[in-house]
Amino acid sequence: MSKSETNAGVCKCLPAAMAALLAGCGAGDGLQEAQPTGGTPDEAAASPAPSAPEAAIEAGRRIFRFDTFGDETQWTDALRMHEVIRKAVDPKTALSVGLKVDAEALPAAVVKGIQDGSIPLTSAETTVALLKLDAVVGLDGHVETVDGKDTLTRVGVTCALCHSTVDDSFAPGIGKRLDGWPNRDLDVGAIIALSPALTTKQKAVYSSWGKGRYDPRYNQDDRNGPQVIPPAYGLAGIHRITVTGDGEDIAYWNRYVGVTQMGGHGRFTEPRTGVDVTNGEDDLISSKLPALQAYQLSLAAPSPPAGSFDAAAAGRGKALFDGKAGCVACHGGPAFTDANTRLHTPAEVVSEPEAEGVPSYASRSATRQYRTAPLRGVWQHPPYFHNGSAPTLEAVVTTYNGRKSLGLSAAEISDVAQYLKSL
Ligand code: HEC
Ligand code: HEC
Repeated sequence: MSKSETNAGVCKCLPAAMAALLAGCGAGDGLQEAQPTGGTPDEAAASPAPSAPEAAIEAGRRIFRFDTFGDETQWTDALRMHEVIRKAVDPKTALSVGLKVDAEALPAAVVKGIQDGSIPLTSAETTVALLKLDAVVGLDGHVETVDGKDTLTRVGVTCALCHSTVDDSFAPGIGKRLDGWPNRDLDVGAIIALSPALTTKQKAVYSSWGKGRYDPRYNQDDRNGPQVIPPAYGLAGIHRITVTGDGEDIAYWNRYVGVTQMGGHGRFTEPRTGVDVTNGEDDLISSKLPALQAYQLSLAAPSPPAGSFDAAAAGRGKALFDGKAGCVACHGGPAFTDANTRLHTPAEVVSEPEAEGVPSYASRSATRQYRTAPLRGVWQHPPYFHNGSAPTLEAVVTTYNGRKSLGLSAAEISDVAQYLKSL
């Protein structure tokens, strides 16, 4: 029912900065389009062997990192981000808006060039070279020789743009991939706002979001209330996906994002919200969803770093969490959530009402309710709540203490926060 390219100009994902990686050195040594295990992402994704979970997980990893589902239609044809990148986005700029570089995709000559300064991080050509190496996390660029020069001709985005970061082991923003970790440095809105195809009003909305936030419904309902980019790890066993529990499995939401946000080719339809989007004549998403989901289910929440919390205080905090503070009533079970049995109305959650002028996020969703957030690995991804209204875990507990009149002392609040840091 919907026309193709429905989202042109409004999609949100983006990549501008991504382009920024390295410079014109050593690219062209066969690393572009690098697929560690061979084959293009599309080929890899098309036929995950259902009886071979390892193979499905590996196929899913490649899809998560490298597959655009044909969304160049949106990022290149509609938003013209390839022009923005090749003209104006040097690696320094890209890193400053939170794009990350996969150090493992860099050949030794490039590593050396960055270290000794012979590869300028202030040239947009370096960005094109990094894209050619497939080293910009979440961006997939096609680089061709035009008039003897490497030229970025197509660019698209992948899931890794928002849901992967790097460990900074080489330099800030450059390191090994950490798939499933939300990129809370990424200013997706600022990147999209660079597109010459947007209206002034759209640019103002995208520019307002800030780092680590993205509104995955704005281009569908024209309302503005950015969400904190969540982790894509720790979801095994949870059958309510997204903060509002819209889907019973990850694949539901992956189809939503892949089609309606990334602009990938395929269809997403949801009678509860009236969203019905079809991009392209082909379907480059459906066949990949099982492997993509298998990969995400394989991503465990990260354990807290050694020494990052006070074990004695965490022990006292657990007793409060399970007792006086009443947290376990909703945050129960192995994943610390009652998501599989019920959702909660906005009146029950402490993160609503939203800030002045921001529409209730639940009201824009399919369920109009909230899912109790799973808490494994919660230490890793401040700020908290769907809208990021609590900057720290101490602030979370303080909010509960006030809104639910729990009567916790300052010491008790601190103990519960230490417990949360230990999960
Ligand atoms: C432009 C940034 C962006 C991109 C690209 C993106 N996501 Fe997300 N993702 C988000 C935001 C924001 C949310 C929170 C939405 C909500 O909960 O309502 C989210 C939610 C999710 C969730 C739900 C997590 C939970 O706790 O239930 C999963 C899983 C997920 N994304 C996986 C993916 C996959 C796989 C892709 C690629 C097909 C993808 N995302 C692409 C921003 C993005
Ligand atoms: C009535 C059920 C309920 C109770 C009781 C409850 N929570 Fe929650 N909790 C939720 C829901 C629902 C969310 C998601 C809200 C949102 O995303 O805005 C949430 C979110 C959170 C988050 C944010 C996680 C994230 O990923 O951002 C933390 C931390 C948390 N709760 C801790 C606690 C603690 C500590 C207590 C006890 C003091 C508690 N909760 C009591 C339902 C509950």
